[in-house]
Amino acid sequence: MANCYDVEKAIRTRKAIRRFKPDPIPDEILFRILEAGRLSPSSKNSQPWHFIIIKDKAKLSELSKMTYTGDFLSEAPVAIAVILENAKLETDGARAIQNMTLVAWKYGIGTVWITNFWDKAKQVLGVPMTGNFKLLTVMPFGYVPESERPKGRKKRKPLSKIVHFEKFGSPWEFSSSRQ
Ligand SMILES: Cc1cc2nc3c(=O)[nH]c(=O)nc-3n(C[C@H](O)[C@H](O)[C@H](O)COP(=O)(O)O)c2cc1C
Repeated sequence: MANCYDVEKAIRTRKAIRRFKPDPIPDEILFRILEAGRLSPSSKNSQPWHFIIIKDKAKLSELSKMTYTGDFLSEAPVAIAVILENAKLETDGARAIQNMTLVAWKYGIGTVWITNFWDKAKQVLGVPMTGNFKLLTVMPFGYVPESERPKGRKKRKPLSKIVHFEKFGSPWEFSSSRQ
């Protein structure tokens, strides 16, 4: 399989992808992405997640109009909705989302976490409307077009601004050529 990245390289190069090639993603790859979600750690191993695969263009288009930060969702060949059931911590879902994102990236597939879905999106997906079911995101997945390939370094704060040694405010004296 193409684009086999190691973990560090995947973390370094991954970026939010909001444009996609129209090519379908084979179910075998979709399976691997979902497996990465399933195998994620969660508090007390509660595994509060459900994943809904969405390929229907009309549904993707309808969902894309139910958030103001993800109209590009309709352009993806497939999306995965992440729903948490009785989750104590939303961070459990975040672990699954990150794992799925990194495995997708390994196969040249990009995604982004889209937030701000109206409650109505749950209804479109057939998710129980009760408060114990939370729609965390609908993630679009698609092969990354040439124009979206990662270029340059990520815009991130340097470690020197966020790492402290022994106590808050005390710098860690380490210099790396990487920073
Ligand atoms: C919890 C979370 C919510 C996000 N929500 C959205 C969103 O609604 N729409 C969007 O286009 N990007 C969204 N993003 C993507 C971020 O804007 C993006 O990850 C960030 O700017 C860093 O860029 P990078 O992912 O390319 O490194 C979200 C990311 C996270 C982690």
